[in-house]
Formats: sequence, C-alpha cells, structure tokens
Amino acid sequence: YLYALIVAVVSYLLGCFNGSIIVSKYILKNDIRSHGSGNAGLTNFYRSFGGGLTALVLLGDILKAVLAYFFGRWLMGSLGFAVGGEFLACFFVMLGHTFPVFFGFKGGKGVLSGGTLVALIDLRIFAVVIIAFLVMVVLTRYISLGSIMAAVFFPFAAWFFWHSPFYTFMTVLCSAMLIFMHRGNLTRIKNGTESRFSFRRKKSP
Ligand code: G3P
Repeated sequence: YLYALIVAVVSYLLGCFNGSIIVSKYILKNDIRSHGSGNAGLTNFYRSFGGGLTALVLLGDILKAVLAYFFGRWLMGSLGFAVGGEFLACFFVMLGHTFPVFFGFKGGKGVLSGGTLVALIDLRIFAVVIIAFLVMVVLTRYISLGSIMAAVFFPFAAWFFWHSPFYTFMTVLCSAMLIFMHRGNLTRIKNGTESRFSFRRKKSP
C-alpha cells in the first residue's frame, strides 16, 4: 500500500506539470485559461495560440505521462504486480493534470496524458479508444465528443482485454473524471456553441 501511495503521489505531482499552462504562462506570458474554452489542454492551446509551441505542450504532456508510467511500473513491478502501477499512474497523472496543486487546481481534462498512459499500458486498448475518438471527431469535428467517446469505450476495452476488476475500476475512475470535466462541453454542444476543430486558426495570440 505504501508503494501504491508513492506511485499515486508521484504521478499526481508529475501530472501537475500542465504543459499548456507552463508554456502559456511562462513563455507566452498569456495564461491559456483566459483564452478560448478556458481549458488548460492541448486542444485549447492549439485553438488559441496554434503553431509550433503546440508541439512543446504535446511533448511535455506526453513526457510526464511516460515518466509516470515507468515509475509506476518500476515501483509496483518490484513488488511483483505486473501492471497495477500503470493503471494507478494513469488515474493520478490525469488527476494532477486536471487539478494541479501548483496552478490553483484549475487545469485541463486529462485526455492527452491519459491517452498516453493507455498507449503505453496496452496498444489494443489504445486502438479501441483512438478509433472511438477519431470516428467521433471526423463525424462531428468536436474534439470534446471524441474524448468522451474514447472515455466511454475505455473501461469496456480494459475489461475485454484484461478481465481484472481492479484495472477496470481504475479505468472507470479515469473515464468518470474525464467525462465529468467535459460537462461544460456537453452543454455547449447542446446549445450549439461548442467550437469545432479546424486546422485553420481563428485568431492570433
Ligand atoms: O482536450 C480536451 C478536449 O476534449 C476539449 O477541450 O478546450 O474544447 O474544452 P476544450
């Protein structure tokens, strides 16, 4: 349990390094949370600032997820748990990204950081969720709806491939948090005010 707690805390703290907040606040001197949807995530960063720095946000958020994955795997693995640490890491990285202690607990929605962990944990599960995401995005051009659809499929795919109550429980937690964080998007979709993804930027920083 102590090791699980360490994995949870370290993953949470890694998750708090929210790429879009760090790049916007310290490089652009223009906090992402006062732009676009107000969300501190890759989608809104691209929507609001576009360009090359989006790649930096992408790399940063992927890197922290990779670090959490290997840390969780290493620590729990040393206890003989084959993959439990990674599922813990997945939830707590998403939690840190979404509620970062360093940035007033106002972060993103954990789609990219969670997705990275899923890709590392099991490519078959990742294939299911990325297909769900892409189909939804191609059909509607709502990144948020793609993310929600991926979250809906995540626990089912995890159960299908692993048959583990604990792992499935962790995926349900991840998906529930992710979908809860998209409640504003769902309202905007209902009202027809959600912005659709476009490769062309609407405004400059
Ligand atoms: O990455 C989060 C995405 O699903 C929605 O972001 O900025 O449209 O609320 P946003």
